[in-house]
Amino acid sequence: MRISIASDHAGFEQKQVLAAYLEECGHEVIDRGPENDDRVDYPDFAYLVARDVADGEVERGVLVCGTGIGMAVAACKVDGIRAVNIINTEFAALCREHNDANVITLSGRFVDEATNKAILDVFLTTAFGEGRHTGRVEKIMALEA
Ligand code: RB5
Repeated sequence: MRISIASDHAGFEQKQVLAAYLEECGHEVIDRGPENDDRVDYPDFAYLVARDVADGEVERGVLVCGTGIGMAVAACKVDGIRAVNIINTEFAALCREHNDANVITLSGRFVDEATNKAILDVFLTTAFGEGRHTGRVEKIMALEA
């Protein structure tokens, strides 16, 4: 799968680890930065990844900040994006099955690397459930109009 990833300073360390992990798993990873842990503003990086997903450059986006919260709020401002802040594997499955999430936002400060790797495994392998969920997701997207 083609995946775009970015972080802010608080998520930088885990972004490096998770980008390498995704490549090890055979994914094609586009790293939108930053290149070091100097202080930056997370909306700038959320936008780069959200744009990649919305433009169809990649299939999924991954964003890491201190909590993942700010990244989710920012990425959802871009039309076409369903970004979710996920801290366990159960929610990783449900955000795909029920919400067809296309961007996942992770916490670099409150969730350990092993858990975030497991979350990514589930996020990238779980299909959208369709059926009763389809109309609900369509209603979400209609809110952009
Ligand atoms: C940066 O201090 C922090 O606010 C950011 O990484 C993120 O947690 C925002 O939601």
